[in-house]
Amino acid sequence: MEELYKNAIAHPIFKVIGEAADELQVDAYVIGGFVRDFFLGKAIPKDIDVVAVGSGIALAEKVGAKLKGKPKVKVFKNFGTAMLKYEPWELEFVGARKESYQRNSRKPIVENGSLEDDQNRRDFTINALAIGLNQHHFGKLLDPFNGLEDLSAKIIRTPLAPSITYSDDPLRMLRAIRFATQLHFEIELQSLQAISENRERIKIVSKERIVEEVHKILMAKRPSFGFALLQQTGLLSYIFPELAALQGIEEIEGQRHKDNFWHTLEVVDNIASTTDKLWLRWAALLHDIGKAPTKRFDNKIGWTFHGHEFVGSKMVYKLFKRLRMPLNEKMKFVQKMVLLSSRPIILSEDHVTDSAVRRLIFDAGEAIEDLMTLCEADITTKNPKKQRKYLNNFKLVRQKIREVEERDRIRNFQPPISGEEIMQTFNLRPSKEIGIIKEAIKEAILEGEIPNEHKAAHQFMLKKGEELGLKQCN
Ligand code: CTP
Repeated sequence: MEELYKNAIAHPIFKVIGEAADELQVDAYVIGGFVRDFFLGKAIPKDIDVVAVGSGIALAEKVGAKLKGKPKVKVFKNFGTAMLKYEPWELEFVGARKESYQRNSRKPIVENGSLEDDQNRRDFTINALAIGLNQHHFGKLLDPFNGLEDLSAKIIRTPLAPSITYSDDPLRMLRAIRFATQLHFEIELQSLQAISENRERIKIVSKERIVEEVHKILMAKRPSFGFALLQQTGLLSYIFPELAALQGIEEIEGQRHKDNFWHTLEVVDNIASTTDKLWLRWAALLHDIGKAPTKRFDNKIGWTFHGHEFVGSKMVYKLFKRLRMPLNEKMKFVQKMVLLSSRPIILSEDHVTDSAVRRLIFDAGEAIEDLMTLCEADITTKNPKKQRKYLNNFKLVRQKIREVEERDRIRNFQPPISGEEIMQTFNLRPSKEIGIIKEAIKEAILEGEIPNEHKAAHQFMLKKGEELGLKQCN
């Protein structure tokens, strides 16, 4: 006798679905993430997946007609699914399927089936838990693969032989790793092997779906867990060859460099504990990607990664493009972070001068705080003394940034003298002299020769014009 779990479906919406199903004489169940998260004691998700042993579309339409305000039902005929929004819920209806897949596409050929057929074709045992909604089985749990046991043992397991489940839909390989990361579960051994064996099939998954999963891994509490699994299963080389290339330690003449892949993962975990900003976490993930192509051994100074920040920032564009990620200000932000990622470190090692801080603020602009957060996360030394020293230095840099910014307002630098004013002062047509004067004013401000004020900049402009042999008009 299965247990009743009426608590999970206490909300009146489930009664409505059950009644609609009874009227249509089809069995209906809530299934998937909603049930899983209920048993995990998580906040109740807003997405509800309903499976009908019959037409999911007909059930959706019946439910839509019964609900207050008669919400619109969106039908996806090709997939045999329908959805409707009923604040705060998003209900997705599907007919139970016995599914077979075409080998080279993720698009399923749909064939009607029983609830058990449908549970069979789902990704993981913990996602195949179903709770009955009709009157005759309201609240009854159907758990043919012991998903509940796997939930408490914290195991990701496929209902069918893993090679079938993953080869049917290779996105599930990433989903397995994503769920393992989010929930801190272990992927059962055979499943892990099947992911390794099928890794090449990730190629048929759309880039958008891949990135969606990567975002979720990055937003987990400890993203390194997921990236280590990507590396272990070999998926990393298909998705992020640039990161895979960072792995390994070389030794020449007794000199070794650190393993930049594992270092990167530490940085990502560090930053995950201080910020929820997705793109800053991306920046942490990519901050060292320029190190593989720039690695050299120099007899005098040992290992170098000269210019890796610049090379890395160029690689960010290519990587975003390849993965069809946005090539907008988000990408530019990540590029900027990668490009500037070593600047505060150099700064903190040296005597911190005002002009160096002004230049950093000028280059980073609004992203200065995020840059400091990235640099603090980049400290992965295991030597507590050094760690304290670096953190302390960054504190000083932050302090200095505040002081300089208060005084000089460099963050959103607007030239105090416009090109227009220069033209009028010297009666110039558009010409290169205007650019030269503007640049000289900016440099003088950044160097601290003059304050960031109009009066001082005006004086400076007159002096510079004179040097260039320009005549002031009266
Ligand atoms: N599913 C599947 N294979 C996939 C995607 C989804 O078998 N590639 C099934 C699973 O049973 C899953 C359900 O469809 O639980 C709903 O999928 P989705 O909404 O993508 O995921 P959730 O499990 O609800 O989890 P999350 O919202 O965290 O993605």
